Amino acid sequence: MENRLLGLLVEARSSIEKAASLDELENLRVNILGRKGTLTSLLKGLSDLPRELKPVIGKLANQIKEEILAALEKTRRILADVESQRRIVEGAVDVTLPGRSLPTGGTHPITRVTDEVCAIFKRMGFSVAQGPEIELDYYNFEALNIPKDHPARQMQDTFYVSDDVVLRTHTSPVQVRVMEKQAPPVKIIAPGRVYRCDSDLTHTPMFDQIEGLLVDKSVTFSDLKGVLIAFLHAFFGSSAEIRFRPSYFPFTEPSAEVDIECVMCKGSGCRVCGQTGWLEILGCGMVDPAVYKFVNYDPEEFTGFAFGMGVERLAMLRYGIDDLRLFFANDLRFLRQF
Ligand code: DAH
Repeated sequence: MENRLLGLLVEARSSIEKAASLDELENLRVNILGRKGTLTSLLKGLSDLPRELKPVIGKLANQIKEEILAALEKTRRILADVESQRRIVEGAVDVTLPGRSLPTGGTHPITRVTDEVCAIFKRMGFSVAQGPEIELDYYNFEALNIPKDHPARQMQDTFYVSDDVVLRTHTSPVQVRVMEKQAPPVKIIAPGRVYRCDSDLTHTPMFDQIEGLLVDKSVTFSDLKGVLIAFLHAFFGSSAEIRFRPSYFPFTEPSAEVDIECVMCKGSGCRVCGQTGWLEILGCGMVDPAVYKFVNYDPEEFTGFAFGMGVERLAMLRYGIDDLRLFFANDLRFLRQF
């Protein structure tokens, strides 16, 4: 009996070691330890043994069972390891593949520039105001000192909705709307879309402007220059050359236009700046007392300045974009660069 038990152990160990799969290992376990297994059947002969041998052989049988269980467990671990390696290699899960990322949206360059300009003015204490894109003739023209027969109305190719309703041609009407509601001091900027019946290489029927207005006691033209130069240096860098050129707007007096040294040729003259070396980027001036009349501000007590600029223009200069249409084409190859 003892020999048969030891023989069974040797045999069991060697077949367990040779098991090639977890299934095969499970079969071996059943064949040895199961109800009809070889060890189980062998132990059935225990009752026929002489009484003094029974405890000795019984103890041995238990040890052998333990050893077989240990051998089974050891091989199970190895096989389980091999099995999971095999699954990985077979590519059930290729952990080296790059993940599938969801496409992320970006901010449109026009929105980026608008946000950046607003951020610069907010740092200087301006707050952001808004007005409607479908505007009364009164705000778009009349209250800005552009009466019905004024030649300046022809400068702006207006989309009329009705006799006295227009798509606003500029963001300047927001100035009037703000002053109407608020007593001085006023310190606002107003970004927004504007519309003009104009379409060619450098004009689109819709584009974006940012308006600014500051009214307070003893505001002077040098305040205007200080604020605009600070803005332009913040936006284009402190080495940007800037010049103020006399100009005319019905709602400001005196008026000026501001040019920046051409970012393409650095002032030497090129196609972009029409060989002048300068690019016009905004209009500005001291608010005309005629405008104050419409909002009941006392021009003897308050003075102020206003300015307006085109966002597409700023974005083109800032990012070196030479085709206006790119902003409106929604071509992802273009937009992804921002
Ligand atoms: N509204 C003018 C335009 O669209 C730009 C402008 C010029 C705005 C002078 C101003 C200003 O506030 O003071 O052409």
